[in-house]
Amino acid sequence: MTCYDRTGVTYSLTRRADPRLAAVIDEALGDAASVANIGAGTGSYEPSRTVVAVEPSRVMINQRSATAAPVVQAAAEALPIATGAVDAAMAVLTVHHWADLATGVSEMRRVARRRAVILTWDSAVHRDFWLLREYLPDAAETDARLAVSIETLASLLGDRVSIAPVLVPHDCVDGFGGAYWRRPDAYLDAAVQAGMSLMALTPKALLREGLKRLRSDLDSGAWQRRHADILRESELDLGYRLVVGEFD
Ligand SMILES: C[S@@+](CC[C@H](N)C(=O)[O-])C[C@H]1O[C@@H](n2cnc3c(N)ncnc32)[C@H](O)[C@@H]1O
Repeated sequence: MTCYDRTGVTYSLTRRADPRLAAVIDEALGDAASVANIGAGTGSYEPSRTVVAVEPSRVMINQRSATAAPVVQAAAEALPIATGAVDAAMAVLTVHHWADLATGVSEMRRVARRRAVILTWDSAVHRDFWLLREYLPDAAETDARLAVSIETLASLLGDRVSIAPVLVPHDCVDGFGGAYWRRPDAYLDAAVQAGMSLMALTPKALLREGLKRLRSDLDSGAWQRRHADILRESELDLGYRLVVGEFD
């Protein structure tokens, strides 16, 4: 039983690949002809060159489409993939759930001949996101506790590593924590809340007061006045980072 066997039941309702983020990930995979998708979930961001997906949660596997890559139920820490079997391994918004990050990344390096592509977030930047800073301090704590250190991740990937910001479009299709930065009403929706770890893994009682205050600030126009600057932006840096390790 994994955490996503409890929280992932409605995942595919709000969590679908955003085409702009998919393009960034696809470009980072470069000319890799074969890809392993680790922590693959329902199959978002999985390019057609994916030859195997690895996912521990049966609930998530059951939401994969019939045309998605073949999936094996397993965890990153013990990949059921032969050494050097694929050109690239990818892991999208999943490393923060791994029980043993170092072993998981070392497994990605073992199975991938050429590169590993990891999308995660930098908690030092993300904690300044208005939702966490102004309304949900307990969710901010959950977020900080879950977050993986970018420096640690980079050091685990070796000595040829690049780290690039991934900006979140204002109409991001994938409902992760920062996706609705310009659509604040969405954070009041129970289905949206269920799809993001920072809310789903924070006790509901600790979210209640902040969400009530957000409702009231939206109704009074206080939120809109305070955030007039971001309402003019089309994309924002909320700390999401693409970390790429090259091996060959
Ligand atoms: C937020 S979802 C992301 C899924 C997918 N990569 C995506 O972008 O939609 C996180 C996924 O990590 C998986 N996960 C949790 N622990 C894991 C582990 N130790 N190894 C591999 N995947 C894990 C969860 O089951 C879940 O499917």
